[in-house]
Amino acid sequence: MTKWICHPEDHKDNPLVPVFRRRIKLRQKVKKAVLKLSAHGLYEIQVNGVNATENRFMPGLTSYYYRIQIQEYDIAALLKEGGNELLVTVGDGWWRWNNNFGYTLALWGELRLCYTDGSEETLSTDEDWDVGLGPVVRTDLQKGEVYDARIVPSDWKKAVICTEHTGGKLIENQSVPVREKERSPGKPLRDSKGNLVIDFGQNIAGYVHMTLRNTTPGQTVRLKHGEGLDKDGCFSTANCDGGRAEFQEITYICKGAEKEEYTPHFAVFGFRYALVEGIESENADFEAIAVYSDMEETGDFRCSNELINKLVENARWSQKGNFLDVPVDCPTRERNAWTGDAMIYCRTAAYFMDVKRFFKKWLVDQTIEQYASGKVGITFPSTSSVHNPEELKAVQTKDPAMALAGPTGDGNIGEDSVGWGDSAVWIPYQMYLMYGDVDFLKEHYDTAKKWVEFSLRCMKEKNPLYADKPWYANGDGDYIYDTRFHYGEWNEPLPPAPEVIELFAKGGTAADYVTHMAKYGKPEVATAYTKRSCDNLSHMARILGKDEDAAHYAALSAKIKAAYDKYLIGPDGTIQRGHQAAYIRALALDMVSKEKKPSVIAQLKRELEAANYHLNTGFLSTVYLLPTLCDIGLVDEAFRILEQTTDPGWLHPITLGATTMLENWNGMDMFRDSFNHYSFGAVCQFLFEYVAGIRPTFAAPGFRVFELRPVIGGNLSWAEGSYKTQYGTIESRWEREGKYFVYTCTVPEGTTARLTLPDGSAKTLSAGNYRFEGERHG
Ligand code: BGC
Repeated sequence: MTKWICHPEDHKDNPLVPVFRRRIKLRQKVKKAVLKLSAHGLYEIQVNGVNATENRFMPGLTSYYYRIQIQEYDIAALLKEGGNELLVTVGDGWWRWNNNFGYTLALWGELRLCYTDGSEETLSTDEDWDVGLGPVVRTDLQKGEVYDARIVPSDWKKAVICTEHTGGKLIENQSVPVREKERSPGKPLRDSKGNLVIDFGQNIAGYVHMTLRNTTPGQTVRLKHGEGLDKDGCFSTANCDGGRAEFQEITYICKGAEKEEYTPHFAVFGFRYALVEGIESENADFEAIAVYSDMEETGDFRCSNELINKLVENARWSQKGNFLDVPVDCPTRERNAWTGDAMIYCRTAAYFMDVKRFFKKWLVDQTIEQYASGKVGITFPSTSSVHNPEELKAVQTKDPAMALAGPTGDGNIGEDSVGWGDSAVWIPYQMYLMYGDVDFLKEHYDTAKKWVEFSLRCMKEKNPLYADKPWYANGDGDYIYDTRFHYGEWNEPLPPAPEVIELFAKGGTAADYVTHMAKYGKPEVATAYTKRSCDNLSHMARILGKDEDAAHYAALSAKIKAAYDKYLIGPDGTIQRGHQAAYIRALALDMVSKEKKPSVIAQLKRELEAANYHLNTGFLSTVYLLPTLCDIGLVDEAFRILEQTTDPGWLHPITLGATTMLENWNGMDMFRDSFNHYSFGAVCQFLFEYVAGIRPTFAAPGFRVFELRPVIGGNLSWAEGSYKTQYGTIESRWEREGKYFVYTCTVPEGTTARLTLPDGSAKTLSAGNYRFEGERHG
């Protein structure tokens, strides 16, 4: 039987990077040699000294205690008659990252040899395998790697059976393979402190391949990876290291040669720059390699404004920088697969790349990790709740607020958040829309429903802080969600609320802040998102033929909307002064009655004017800002905000040289927060769906029937978008001079487009190429 094996001395107090060895003697030639592997940690395979696969970071990240992937390779071409050596190195990876899953690295594998005479032989991982130590001395996804090139794998011992959390179900690979993609040569420079720094010109997630010349044995070369130079022109990781001392570092100890080369094995970094020590630039070449899930690129957008084109490029790079088997918030500080970020961006992601399989795999872990109460965590596979029971205990002792953390509890205080947990509903719903694959709905309907039921129960809780509100005692409060912790409009470019300023002035900690947020709730946000999820769930139910559920959640949605409109929107349309998000959210999520709509729009107009046509929306509503403005007829305002080059806005960081999307609206000049946060890149959905006008429809999802509804606006003189659907590529392009426009489009075979031209005329188009001209109205 195939067993999980490990190094006999690899344990909590002595973490090792094991190299497993199996000597293979072939009786005769093989037709096929199928190697199946999985690991607690990440594995790399060498057969007779040759790398057996170009795939990286295997077996990928899943909720390991429940399921763990096996990959399969045919290594016949690498085997020879007689003696062969199979080496598998296992590095820390996600298993031992922050010890979240365990302390000991392990290997599971089978090699099925099919000989030319028809006979077969299977070699499985067991105590017959040897295990030693090799040149990878230490490795951590985030801290980095120590590699001693003088070491050849040695110190062989017999492998032992591993018993640490081996209960995860072994499943076939579902991941899109992670591969090395774009390469960019680095340019050496001296920073203001005189340090040798290599600039790769593009912020990426990946690592550096280095070629070193004329080295001496034991010479130590160090690289530290960061996203920027600070305001004094000095290399720094302060914006993205989260205060960690050990962060994104490579230590390479040379064997001493005319030329030696090295590429990291089990570490990945977010960076544009590398600080170099231990070698001079004339003796070394550095090349950055981007590493991410190898998905096909499907869409593009271009227009007459080069800054917007760069914005599109930056958004695409942030997707590449954060989609490594799971979608993480940033490739530096946290690297957590945050639900909120993915929810906001998943539809945009589908325009840039074929993300169907990527999300299909990831969503399964969301379902697996949903708490019994229906709560959906903020990250999954969870890094906010600790999996490893021993580590969990330590966290709980240190911080009682985390007492409920852990997959068998009910999540910690941060895991009640609407807008994050709603990913359970939104992502399957959007994937269905983009790909027309009803399995997304079938497979995740129960998870979505349990989450909505959890939110509806929370809505019924009473918050004594709002005892003076009319809804508190009259039953309508059941439809206002005013309790619990919610991140809400994270990162609005606005000063914090006065009570928050006071809290920190009195020495409050981040934990006090979270407790404070939980006490106040966020009725305007939580109520709106719960209503949206009721709408989505009702629609999902209708598609799946669950008519009772469809009617039930539609009725609940109507009740929530009525309560929202009555209590949270003032008679003059005021929701929250100073916050565009409040008005955009209410309009986009259909929270406003017909009667109040004109005054809500009037308030929003006032907000836009007060901000001098700059955005001040945060995490959740920025994606809705421009589409909503166009939908209510404020096209000029939408383009004015889009084209702003001053702070806060999408283009401001580009004028400062950004090559990816930033986390914070305050931009790079502040040198704070991550420089590679993909979620604000969701503005590209607007570019594809409004400016280029390519929009999916629920009536025939997956673009079998789609809309073409180009919106001409701002200072753009032309714009074009393309999107490769499963049927073929849709193209849409306009050019204009004054009011006069020329519009061309391509409708792929097997699809139908419903076109609305900028002059207001409508047409139904079957497959073909078309050209129209006219005068834009309005
Ligand atoms: C992460 C986000 C995440 C957020 C929750 C941040 O620290 O980087 O992207 O969604 O926390 O508000």
